[in-house]
Amino acid sequence: MSLYKPAPSPTLNLIELQTIGSTNDYAKQLAKNAYPAGTVVWAHEQTAGRGRQGNTWESYAGNLFMSVILRPKASMAQMGQMSFVVAVAVAKVLEKVVSVQYQIRLKWPNDIFLNGKKLGGILIETETTGVQSVPWAVVGIGVNVVKAPEGAACLADAKVQKTEAGHLLEEIVKEMNFLLKHWEEKGFDQIREAWLKKAWKIDQEISVRLPKEEIKGVFLGLDAQGSLRLKMPDGKERLINSGEVFF
Ligand code: BTN
Repeated sequence: MSLYKPAPSPTLNLIELQTIGSTNDYAKQLAKNAYPAGTVVWAHEQTAGRGRQGNTWESYAGNLFMSVILRPKASMAQMGQMSFVVAVAVAKVLEKVVSVQYQIRLKWPNDIFLNGKKLGGILIETETTGVQSVPWAVVGIGVNVVKAPEGAACLADAKVQKTEAGHLLEEIVKEMNFLLKHWEEKGFDQIREAWLKKAWKIDQEISVRLPKEEIKGVFLGLDAQGSLRLKMPDGKERLINSGEVFF
């Protein structure tokens, strides 16, 4: 149970819940009911946490579960970039709280890793009524603070003292707002650069699971839209828009 509560502010419209199925599901209902951008749903525990690609998100009490409503000035085509903006924001905050010997890295597109194990994840969901504009997006962020599922990492592993979900939420909202503004005003280039500096396995061989095949290649970086650039064994470059990277 988190003890620290973020202070109310004009930029943080916080809805705090003890237990909920999924903060993303709750926030999506609010978004459909005209709740404003900047509304943040925070739960201390989830009973039906969801991950990307239909996975379950193990949600132990005391970890961070938050979902932010955004009303971005972006087209559906630009929405892929948003996941990199959020991933960089979350990584920046987590880098500040782990001890120096621990490394925070990003796995394409937006998994957060701590010394090679998954520490956090991001699930962005949008209204899909059209391609021209996006009425709302819900950005769900989960970070293992006190306890991790088998094979994953939590901040407690990284000898972090006194870092509570509420502190992280407050810092993540600040950093996200800053970087989202930067993205809307100046575009994707610097976000892309920042993501690449934190990328895991860059210039190394990775495997990618696509709907109908698994492929291996060297991870060359991101293209201007955030697609993964993979050098195939025949030397040709392939761009991946969606899929699961594994090692
Ligand atoms: C992933 O698969 O890596 C994404 C995980 C996203 C989990 C967070 S926890 C808060 C929000 N509510 C959910 O049900 N999922 C997201």
